[in-house]
Amino acid sequence: MAGNWKMYKNAAETASFFEAFRPVVAGTRDREVVICPPFVNLPAAVDATKGSNVEIGAQNLYWEKEGAFTGEVSAPMLAAIGVKWVIIAHSERRQFFGETDETAHKKILAALAAGLRPIVCVGELLADREANKTNAVLERQFKGGIAALTAEQFGKIVIAYEPVWAIGTGKTATPQIAADAHRFIREQARGVYGAEAAEALRILYGGSVKPDNVRELMAQSEIDGVLVGGASLKPEGFASIVNY
Ligand code: PGA
Repeated sequence: MAGNWKMYKNAAETASFFEAFRPVVAGTRDREVVICPPFVNLPAAVDATKGSNVEIGAQNLYWEKEGAFTGEVSAPMLAAIGVKWVIIAHSERRQFFGETDETAHKKILAALAAGLRPIVCVGELLADREANKTNAVLERQFKGGIAALTAEQFGKIVIAYEPVWAIGTGKTATPQIAADAHRFIREQARGVYGAEAAEALRILYGGSVKPDNVRELMAQSEIDGVLVGGASLKPEGFASIVNY
């Protein structure tokens, strides 16, 4: 159950979120809970969650270890401060910051090399869905960004299916639409890595997940978890999603 804060919350807001959030998920044992704040608040978030069942993720990284790359942050830098996860190729990164399947692949490799767990985002635009190209887009993103991983590397990633038309729009994919896409992604995984690896793959759904729709989404056996944007900003709301 992962929260993506995007470009929200300053240091003080980060601290007060965790003060309220930690106790309400303290009893949660059977699922992993991850929050991904902006870079600048990662150290505070790691500190605020020490000894708890909440892990911290970054929203992005750069694939080189270090160097003259002004404004970028590397995987080893994130790992060194106790970050455990990283979102890769979120659709906002693809749309506004020029990320491609190729850069996604490099970032996955860099994350894994540093011991971070990648949450790799895929998903179609509204125009793709309307043109009946959803599966073609998912296949391209899988083949281009993921399929060249070794089986061992593949076993460490989580995929997030986030239809772009459902992100921040209040339009959640129906459980059926989400499950169909997840099934298709799992078939891609089966084709490359075999049945066992495909079965073990965790696929999160993301796009307008809220406390009042999480249950019907999670009722789909194809949906293994959720990646939540807007509704992860409030401690009580996100806790009720985590503990749906
Ligand atoms: P949303 O964002 O829950 O605000 O739609 C999801 C995401 O972009 O990860």
